[in-house]
Amino acid sequence: MVNKITVVGAGNVGATTAQRIAEKELARTVVMVDIADGIPQGKGLDQWESAPIELFDSRVIGTTTYDETKDSDIVVITAGVARKPGMSRDDLLNVNVAIVKPVAEQVKATSPNAIVIVVSNPLDVMCYVAKAVTGFPRERVIGMAGILDTARYRSFLAMELDISVRDIQAMVLGGHGDTMVPLISYTTVSGIPVTQLIAKDKLDAIVARTRNGGAEIVKFLKTGSAYYAPSSGAVQMVEAIVHDQKRILPCSAWLDGEYGMKGLFLGVPVKLGRKGMEKILEVTLTADEKAALAKSAEAVREPMGVVKL
Ligand SMILES: NC(=O)c1ccc[n+]([C@@H]2O[C@H](COP(=O)([O-])OP(=O)(O)OC[C@H]3O[C@@H](n4cnc5c(N)ncnc54)[C@H](O)[C@@H]3O)[C@@H](O)[C@H]2O)c1
Repeated sequence: MVNKITVVGAGNVGATTAQRIAEKELARTVVMVDIADGIPQGKGLDQWESAPIELFDSRVIGTTTYDETKDSDIVVITAGVARKPGMSRDDLLNVNVAIVKPVAEQVKATSPNAIVIVVSNPLDVMCYVAKAVTGFPRERVIGMAGILDTARYRSFLAMELDISVRDIQAMVLGGHGDTMVPLISYTTVSGIPVTQLIAKDKLDAIVARTRNGGAEIVKFLKTGSAYYAPSSGAVQMVEAIVHDQKRILPCSAWLDGEYGMKGLFLGVPVKLGRKGMEKILEVTLTADEKAALAKSAEAVREPMGVVKL
């Protein structure tokens, strides 16, 4: 385990993330920070009181200041407003820039060597805010979205085929929005191309459901957005970093020429290890996939262009 992991935002995603990190004993201390006085303290204490039953020794602490987060090894940023029915992730832009910017300033001041995992939406733009404000190298600012989008895709494929989720390998790339790019050409079931197992119209419907996966949950919940699967995605990244697993996972990374693009965060396959984002893997894409990725990049650049820092 590492010494300290901070989760900023003790709402649905943040609190569930902190709980999963503690239960997996990924850090000696897990600190939850939120501006809503009482919430992080209460949730932190409640989680810590589950330790004798769940049997973990990660100490969970909740706070409203950054003193106790000092020198965190990893910081997960989940602070921000979540979607309500009818809203797109981009509708959250201005309000969440105003939240993530001061959070990133605090992280820079108190944990200058941390690896930052961003979860707040609109994801790829909030990654940009976090990187610009902290000035951290691209290895240490990574966004969680592709793991979630891919998990949704894999869960729908498993339902369709009535098989184990374990045997489905897939990647969803691109921005975390309606333009995300599920790669059918790289979707396999224990090595068998998925196109041999599912007819095109059914696959197209699964891809459409994946793109709409977040909105489907928002529509059910009405008062907020998904958090069980999102927190699982964030914790998979934390785990890969803490245990230096060198996992290949779809994450939002700052592109510097990869896929012919520069100067934006976009979901791509990365190698995650103790140094953070250790490598971006460039895979061959079909002409359609290339065009879809370019379109997705445009959908990220547009809101990024109006952000004032
Ligand atoms: N990347 C993804 O795939 C993904 C998935 C789900 C949710 N999200 C995003 O994550 C964010 C959080 O979602 P949620 O469901 O936990 O929302 P939530 O409303 O349950 O929790 C957000 C928390 O942030 C806190 N907060 C606000 N300003 C803060 C600040 N300056 N410092 C610290 N804490 C602050 C609030 O008090 C609240 O407790 C949203 O922006 C949501 O859109 C992203």
